[in-house]
Amino acid sequence: MIISALQFSPSFLDVSANLRILAEYLETCPADLAVLPELCTTGYFFHDTEQLHSVAEALDGPSCTFFREAAREQNRAIVAGFAERSGDAVFNSAVTVFPDGGMHVYRKVHLFAEEKRHFTPGDTGFPVIRWGDRLRLGVMICYDWRFPEAARTLALKGAQLIAHPSNLVAAPRHWKPVMRARSFENKVFTVTANRNGEEFRGQERLHFHGCSQIIAPNGTTLEEVDEDFDGWISADIDPVRADEKAFSPWNDIMTDRRPDQYEL
Ligand code: ACM
Repeated sequence: MIISALQFSPSFLDVSANLRILAEYLETCPADLAVLPELCTTGYFFHDTEQLHSVAEALDGPSCTFFREAAREQNRAIVAGFAERSGDAVFNSAVTVFPDGGMHVYRKVHLFAEEKRHFTPGDTGFPVIRWGDRLRLGVMICYDWRFPEAARTLALKGAQLIAHPSNLVAAPRHWKPVMRARSFENKVFTVTANRNGEEFRGQERLHFHGCSQIIAPNGTTLEEVDEDFDGWISADIDPVRADEKAFSPWNDIMTDRRPDQYEL
């Protein structure tokens, strides 16, 4: 199975322009499973909640409709971050769509910085999504990387691969080795699709670090790029590799766990 992550810089608040750009990128994507960045249809650095609400969409809005159509026409699964309106709430969400029209949503659990002013904290937990017998997929968004519970929950629920749409801004880039550790400690594939570029609010500047990466269950980096790269990074993987949790005849990272000794 070919998995790809897209690195690019969305146009702030311009959903139609971003959908056009994403359509072009998807035309050249080699993937069975394509992972797009967090909030890839809107940009990130909202000036106020009203501005966010002006671009937030329900699940039957233009963005999810576009992703569903693309998945169907291109016969691939797509994971994409977007601003999800649900009643009065707006969630920082990632939609997963499949060629057969199946659609699932993860709503970001751990809100970062000013996201707490604008978004409602996610209420979906960390679902594992089955793509037939091809893949068991988990999704977490950006700042969820700081919480080992997120990836661990997904791994305990059977995820073979964690898609990680991101808008990572922190320097130094601790998330890179930490996401390798998330792969290593859970023996799962992780795919971080991080946007690049910058956004402004008056004199304030937010810089996004790119450096997307794909990591194997043994912690090996399968693919990574620097900040300036625009486009897809890809790897050909066998998801079944993530079902092997033993690393020696003596040790299996799941059955060696001692939940009775943990306080979580
Ligand atoms: C982040 O969670 N967008 C840093």
